[in-house]
Amino acid sequence: MRKFIPYGRQYIDEEDIQAVVEVLRSDFITTGPKVAELENTITGYIGAKHAVAVSNGTAALHAACFAAGIGPGDEVITTPMTFSATANCILYMGGRPVFADIDPITYNIDPRDIEKKITDKTKAVIPVHFTGQPCDMDEIMRIADKYGLTVIEDGAHAMGAEYKGRKIGTIGTMTTLSFHPVKHITTGEGGAVLTDDKLLYEKMLLFRVNGITKDSDKMERNEGLWFCEQHSLGFNYKLTDIQAALGISQFKKLDFFLERRRKYAALYSGLLEQVEGIIVPKQLQYVNSAWHLYIIKLDLAKIRLSRRQVFDELRKRNIGVHVHYIPVYYHPYYRSLGYSRGMCPEAEALYESIITLPLYPSMEEEDIYYVADNLKDILRS
Ligand SMILES: Cc1ncc(COP(=O)(O)O)c(C=O)c1O
Repeated sequence: MRKFIPYGRQYIDEEDIQAVVEVLRSDFITTGPKVAELENTITGYIGAKHAVAVSNGTAALHAACFAAGIGPGDEVITTPMTFSATANCILYMGGRPVFADIDPITYNIDPRDIEKKITDKTKAVIPVHFTGQPCDMDEIMRIADKYGLTVIEDGAHAMGAEYKGRKIGTIGTMTTLSFHPVKHITTGEGGAVLTDDKLLYEKMLLFRVNGITKDSDKMERNEGLWFCEQHSLGFNYKLTDIQAALGISQFKKLDFFLERRRKYAALYSGLLEQVEGIIVPKQLQYVNSAWHLYIIKLDLAKIRLSRRQVFDELRKRNIGVHVHYIPVYYHPYYRSLGYSRGMCPEAEALYESIITLPLYPSMEEEDIYYVADNLKDILRS
């Protein structure tokens, strides 16, 4: 039997390992010079003014919601076609997630539904660049300006993606990233928030260190070298220098990672677009996706198998397919908060027919052929 092909995995080379070993031999193993260097690397690559590196992408979303001042009574509009963390961060702040439906072509949040769901309680919108394809940011920014909303882009899938020639991370008020091993670069666990706004940046810097400052220019008084002041509520969301060193080393390969992902996605589409029963992901002309995920949609009316049967058959052949995502409000916890099925029909319909195929830079071209051939074979059977 062929070796298991997961849906995503990290790419670690000897240079990455050496970078981590070097930090282990140094004075700093928690937040130190490497974290600052990683932040500069991120802003240098993406073009945003400030980056705050944190312990994971969930913490990045939490920090962004904190900086945006989301609080009890506030509504924040997001998509159900995402990982729970995108909506959970609103709940952490006492706000209420409001789900807007997706566009059935791009699977991204539909700006028309965002506008329909705005009330006088709406404070922010969190679009997710699902699979790495940027959302319709012109429309989202137009709506945000019109209603005075903060835009927090969940860019966990979209490191290196471009919208009309602009890198994701330079458009909304804040953009969050994740450095989980299946993402574009990894630090084991890790994440960051990008912003051009200095005030928001400073709020998030404090948020990741329990709200405590040691900067004497900012303190009410200073009783000595031991002195510090807590100015806001915060968490320990620090990234370590061990992780940051890995991130810096990974960044050197980011263009190669993106190139591989784009090449393999094009290869999948070429092999699968003519296959009866398969709908390949559609890319808009003015975006350049970062291709975190490659998701096929099954045209269930044209095949004799269910999504479950196709999925299970692929797994039997050691192909680590997955489903992204169960609509967030299907989860029992969200149901306990009063959410129910029927809110976002397009997202719900999409969920019934999608399968995520393996895609990551350390795959070989023959793996793509293996997946595509097996998929065709299953659909023919
Ligand atoms: C869209 C999205 N947002 C947020 C997150 C959370 O990131 P992390 O796992 O680094 O906390 C993920 C992770 O899978 C994600 O896919």
